[in-house]
Amino acid sequence: MSHHARLHVRPLARLALASALALLASCMATTVATRPETQATPATAAPRTARDVHSFARPEEARVTHVALDLKVDFEAHELSGTATLDLQVTPGAREVVLDTDGLVVHAITDSEGRPLQYALGAAQPGLGSPLAVALAADVKRIVVRYETRPEAGALQWLTPAQTAGKRHPYLFSQGQAILTRTWVPTQDSPGIRQTYSARLTVPKGLRAVMSAEQLTPEGKPAADGTVFEFRMPQAIPPYLFAIAVGDIAFRPLGARSGVYAEPSVLDRAAHEFAEVEKMIEAAERLYGPYRWGRYDILVLPPSFPYGGMENPRLTFATPTVLAGDRSLVSLIAHELAHSWSGNLVTNATWADGWLNEGVTSYFELRIMEAVHGSEVGAMLSRLSLQELERNIHEAGEKSPRTALHVQPGASPDDGSSLVAYEKGAAFLQMMEETAGRERFDAFLRSYFDRYAFQSMDTRGFLAEIREHLVKGEAALEAKLRIDEWVYGPGLPSNVFRPPTDRFVKVEAQAQSFLKGAPASSLVTKGWWTQEWQYFLGLLPKTLSSAQMASLDGAFHFTQAGNSEVHFAWLEKVIANRYEPAMPALETFLTSQGRGKFVRPLYKQLKESDWGAPVAKRIYAQARPLYHPVVAGQVDKILQ
Ligand code: BES
Ligand code: ZN
Repeated sequence: MSHHARLHVRPLARLALASALALLASCMATTVATRPETQATPATAAPRTARDVHSFARPEEARVTHVALDLKVDFEAHELSGTATLDLQVTPGAREVVLDTDGLVVHAITDSEGRPLQYALGAAQPGLGSPLAVALAADVKRIVVRYETRPEAGALQWLTPAQTAGKRHPYLFSQGQAILTRTWVPTQDSPGIRQTYSARLTVPKGLRAVMSAEQLTPEGKPAADGTVFEFRMPQAIPPYLFAIAVGDIAFRPLGARSGVYAEPSVLDRAAHEFAEVEKMIEAAERLYGPYRWGRYDILVLPPSFPYGGMENPRLTFATPTVLAGDRSLVSLIAHELAHSWSGNLVTNATWADGWLNEGVTSYFELRIMEAVHGSEVGAMLSRLSLQELERNIHEAGEKSPRTALHVQPGASPDDGSSLVAYEKGAAFLQMMEETAGRERFDAFLRSYFDRYAFQSMDTRGFLAEIREHLVKGEAALEAKLRIDEWVYGPGLPSNVFRPPTDRFVKVEAQAQSFLKGAPASSLVTKGWWTQEWQYFLGLLPKTLSSAQMASLDGAFHFTQAGNSEVHFAWLEKVIANRYEPAMPALETFLTSQGRGKFVRPLYKQLKESDWGAPVAKRIYAQARPLYHPVVAGQVDKILQ
C-alpha cells in the first residue's frame, strides 16, 4: 500500500481513520525494518535510514522543521501550558501531518492566522503514545497547537523544595531520550527528523530557566506573571535533545566557552570537579574536528536525575553523584561531550541503531581521557569497560542474541542503549583502531563526522562507510576486522583488543593474594586511583565470607566510600553477602539519589535474595517519591 493512495481520501473521513492507519503504518514499519534492503528510501530522508517504528510520524508526507514553544511553567499544577508553533515541510498533495504525543491535553490547533484546523488524536499505544493527525488545509505551512502537559508526563520531573539541595525552591527538569519528548512537546519525535527550535518560557519569579539552546535572556525579563526566558537552537537536532530545567540555578564560567550551572550550594563543588572541561573540548576537537555547538555548559541536577549524564546540546545534564571531590569520575563528562559528535551531530537513525550513538561515544570518551590524562588512564578505563562487558556477556550467555550490536526488530527503544551497545560498541571501534592503525582510523572517523554532520546514520550505513572509507577494498584488512561477526554475532570476538596496563597487573596480584587468604590490611594499595578500586572490586567473586567482607571494610572503609561508583560496587557485595554493618549505608544510598544505574540493580539483588524483599519494599516506600517517574516505573516492576 502506498501513502499516495491514502492522500486522496477526504480529510474528515481520513481523520476518522487516522488511528487505524497509524497502527497499520507501524505494523508495516516493523516488517520493513526486518528487511531494510527492500525499503524504498523516501526522497526527503537522509540516506540509508530505515523507518522508525517508535514514531507515528510520516515525514515523507509532512515534516516538522522548526518548533517554537511559548510555555508557562506551573509548579502548583505540575503543568506546562501554552503553544507549540510548528513549521512544516509539506510534500505536494499531502493533506495531513502526523505528530507524536503522549498524554498531552490538546485544546486547539490553528493555522498561523488563527483559523481552526481539524485534528484527531488516535488511540494510545503502550509506550508510544497517540498519533495526532492534523488536517492541512491548502497552503498551510505552519500550525499552532495550544496544549498542556499532564502532571504524569514521563519526560518531566517536578521536585518539591525538599527534594533539592537548597530546600527552598521547587525544581523541574526534562529527560527526552528515548521517546519521552512527546510527553511535553507535540512534535514528530523520531531521531531521524531534525528540527530547530526556539522557546519563550514564563517561570515563577526568583527561578531561572535553562535549555539545550542558546540563551537570549540569561537573566530573564521581568513580566507580570513571573520571569520570561528566551532561547533559540539554530542547529537542527532530533527532538530527544530538546531539554529544559527550571529552578534556583546559579552559573560559574569554567572557560571562554564553557561553564557550569547548579544550585548555589552545589556550585563550588561542581566548578572544582569540572575544571578540566576546556582541555577536554580541545582534545576532542584535535581528534575529530571542531565543536560545532557554540558553548558547552554542564548542568548539575538534583539527586533524582535518572541518568549519569545526558548529552543535551550546549548543556550536558549531569547527576550530582559524579561529584566525587577528586575529579575521578569526569570520564562521564568526556562521554557526554563526545556525544556532541557521535549522537548529536551524526545521530542514530532509529533507536535500534543506538550503538552508533553510545558505542562510538564510549570509544571517543576513552580517546578524550587518554588525550587529557595519558595512556595509562585510557587503558584502565578501557579495561574496566571490558571487565563489565565480559561479566554482562557471561550473565546473558555467550550465544545470546542480546549480546549482538545489531538489535532485533521489535525491541523497545531502550534496548538499543544496552551495556552491550556501549561497551561492545567501544571495543569494536578500539579493535578497528588497533587493526587498521590509529592514524588511518582517526582519519576515517573524522571524515565520517564531516560527511554526515547534522544527518542520521544506521547500522548498515555505518558498515558501508567502514568498507568504503577505512577498508577501501583491502582484503587482508577486511579479513582481520571480522566486522559482521562483531555487529551481527553474539559474544566477544577473539580479536578484541585489551590495552595493557601495569597498574591493573598489580591490582590483579593484590586481588589474588587477598583471595588466597592475605588480610586486606596487608595488600599494597597505596596511591590507587578510583579505577583501580573499581577493578579490584570487579575481580572479587560475588560470594565472600563475612570475615573477608569485614577484612575489606576494615582496611578500606568501602561502607563509607564517598565515591559513588566505588560505593555502589561495594553495596552489590554487601547485598550478595548480607553484610549487616553496611545496611544503614545501603539504605542511605537508595534514599538519597535516584540514578537508575545504581538503584535498579540494588533493588533487583535485594528482591532476588532469600531475605531482602521486605527490606527492599521498606526502603522503596520511603525512596519512591524521590525517584524520577521512569526509574520509579522500573523499580515498581522489579518489586512488582
Ligand atoms: N544518552 C545517554 C543517557 C541515556 C541512555 C538516556 C539511554 C536515555 C536512554 C548518556 O550519554 C549516557 O550514556 N549516560 C551514562 C553515562 C556514561 C558515562 C556511560 C549514564 O547515564 O550512566
Ligand atoms: Zn551516552
